[in-house]
Amino acid sequence: MQSFLEKESIRKEAFQNIWSDELDDVFSDVAEYYDQVNIIASLGLLNRWRHRFVSTIDLSPGQKVLDVCAGTNVIGRALLSREPSLDVQAIDKSAAMQEVGQRLAQEKGFTIKSTISDVHQLPFPDNHFDIITLQWASRHLRIVDVFSEITRVLKPGGYFYHCDMLRPKEKIVAQLYYAYLHISVPMLAFLFRSGPAALACRDYFIEAIRMFYSSDELSELLAEIGYSNISSKDILGGAIGLHKACKA
Ligand SMILES: C[S@@+](CC[C@H](N)C(=O)[O-])C[C@H]1O[C@@H](n2cnc3c(N)ncnc32)[C@H](O)[C@@H]1O
Repeated sequence: MQSFLEKESIRKEAFQNIWSDELDDVFSDVAEYYDQVNIIASLGLLNRWRHRFVSTIDLSPGQKVLDVCAGTNVIGRALLSREPSLDVQAIDKSAAMQEVGQRLAQEKGFTIKSTISDVHQLPFPDNHFDIITLQWASRHLRIVDVFSEITRVLKPGGYFYHCDMLRPKEKIVAQLYYAYLHISVPMLAFLFRSGPAALACRDYFIEAIRMFYSSDELSELLAEIGYSNISSKDILGGAIGLHKACKA
């Protein structure tokens, strides 16, 4: 765990100001067109990746689900489409993202409970949820702290499902990936006429991945935190990783 704690303190030192002061403005800025930006940024592949992630999630009727950093409730809506009897709770610190998420859920006739709060402390009881999901957000978090909170609120035998952009293990894949991001991030900012907050964070979005974990490292971290039955799937040579882990 020592090496993860050291890496976490380097990430915190580099990004804490952006995480606490600037990211909220970025997500408020993009909330209304967040889904469209992601579809274009992924060259249309986003829906396929989301389907792949959501299809790894085992569901039973009536289960309690927590979606951490829920944004516009993409995951909550997809899970309720598969199993309408789920009891879904979303948490995100961006009220703007959750407002859009609530509207989109209501349009489908879904109920998703919403809590606006920082996820480094989860305002839920111990051993409460059957399933916890976290998609496209860990790069912006102190993950040892958040994963530990997730463990606390997950029931024993419950599953944590994680999906994010990761640091590819192979140098050549990483170089191609960063080159693509260097071109696509400013282009998207221009296309969607991003405000000053998003423009100021263009380099951050690439650096956050460069200083993040590889798929294998993420599996190791989950094991160190105490999860068992850990499995992972890499997409695009590890540029995206899907992880599934059980609380013992
Ligand atoms: C890229 S979006 C992902 C949203 C959603 N999970 C999805 O798959 O579309 C990242 C989300 O993480 C949220 N977020 C970032 N840091 C957070 C924090 N410390 N506490 C709560 N939410 C946070 C942002 O507000 C944003 O809605």
